[in-house]
Amino acid sequence: MTDFTSHIDFFKSLIGDRCFIDDVSKEKYSHDETEDISILPDIVLKPETPEEISEILIHCNKHAIPVTPSGARTGLSGGAIPLHGGVALSMERFNKILSIDENNLQVITEPGVITQVLQEAVKEKGLFYPPDPASKGSCFIGGNISENSGGPKAVKYGVTSDYVLNLEVVLPTGEIIWTGANVLKNATGYNLTQLIVGSEGTLGVITKIVLKLIPHPTADLLMLVPFFNSEEACTAVAALFNAGITPSGLEFMERDALLWTKAFLNDESIQIADNHAAHLLIEVDGFNSDLLMEDCSKIMEVLERFKTDEILFAESEAQKSALWRLRRSVGEAVKSNSIYKEEDTVVPRFELPKLLHHVKRIGEQYGFKSVCYGHAGDGNLHINILKGELSDEFWSNELPKAIRELFIEVVKLGGTLSGEHGIGLVQKEYMDIAFDSKSLELMRSIKNVFDPKGILNPGKIF
Ligand code: LAC
Ligand code: ZN
Repeated sequence: MTDFTSHIDFFKSLIGDRCFIDDVSKEKYSHDETEDISILPDIVLKPETPEEISEILIHCNKHAIPVTPSGARTGLSGGAIPLHGGVALSMERFNKILSIDENNLQVITEPGVITQVLQEAVKEKGLFYPPDPASKGSCFIGGNISENSGGPKAVKYGVTSDYVLNLEVVLPTGEIIWTGANVLKNATGYNLTQLIVGSEGTLGVITKIVLKLIPHPTADLLMLVPFFNSEEACTAVAALFNAGITPSGLEFMERDALLWTKAFLNDESIQIADNHAAHLLIEVDGFNSDLLMEDCSKIMEVLERFKTDEILFAESEAQKSALWRLRRSVGEAVKSNSIYKEEDTVVPRFELPKLLHHVKRIGEQYGFKSVCYGHAGDGNLHINILKGELSDEFWSNELPKAIRELFIEVVKLGGTLSGEHGIGLVQKEYMDIAFDSKSLELMRSIKNVFDPKGILNPGKIF
């Protein structure tokens, strides 16, 4: 950026003391939760209205200043990292739930509301917003929409996109639009709403969100199942669905994932025997406890076909919370253990054992260790490749080759690169594995129509 001073003066004239150029603010907005990457913006702006965002974008568009929308910075693919500097556009002042429509089961919210806060607000009215990424206690709903987040409940209730009905969006050229209508069915033209969902802040800045809600389930059961063999745990996943069970959570954790998280949290609530290779965390929910007990019996019947150790049934709400806390903290625990590279692969769920097999095979071939866990019911496996003692040389030159090999296997299995974390910065070099050149050209053309000067979150996805 040549002379940024005149731009700073402009932003100050527009939003006054909600412009930040101090080192602490810039550092804070230089990273999200993606590995160890950090790139400083030139300025952090905290607008409060769509009109202010519009003015900011018109100015940045005119002067070709990069703008990176930023939520709670919990993302895992670098979506909020200001790769080319410029403006970090914080959405934290958009923090109000605007209305809960109990007649239509909808909520209208601003994007800077913490997902769990939104969930709790609608729960008070007996309503349920199911998508619940591991970071639900700190992430913003706007970020969830930008990355099309999932989480454990997705296996029964679907991902973020399944709940987004309509969005108010400020385009990179400054226009403020609504993408659709507040309706459950919509066959009216191209689906701009769903185009914005998962677009990782590259097409527009979301300023209002209309979400669908459903009645909140009133009962659930949770069990933790130890397996002596990891691939067998993965095989049991499809078997459960094929027996007619629809779990509201079906999570896989390899031995090290759980061991490290126990240590990280100082949690002594469960014991892991030496021969436990992996666990499945299985939840069922609904409105009738008797029916849930029947589901449980069916689950036990299926599990009898596999070699499992004694199953732990959560007996209290506290025990359920402790088990979910363990599962939700795996990512953080791994992060605290080693520099790592996280992949978010997803395959049709029956192929999950083959995916795990390829991960370990490629790991042996290249000489890296991995810890795997994730949303097994969705075929969505988080693969953490650990740097440990590996050289920097290996990490930057050999590892990308190994990851490419892995993604090629994933795509052969009918899967793709990311189930819920997005492409952002860290997976973009692999997009050619998932898409042919024509599809990538179509995506680039769409980006170009929305953002002809390429100012909004440049360097992401492609
Ligand atoms: C999880 C995050 C990493 O499932 O997606 O814990
Ligand atoms: Zn996840």
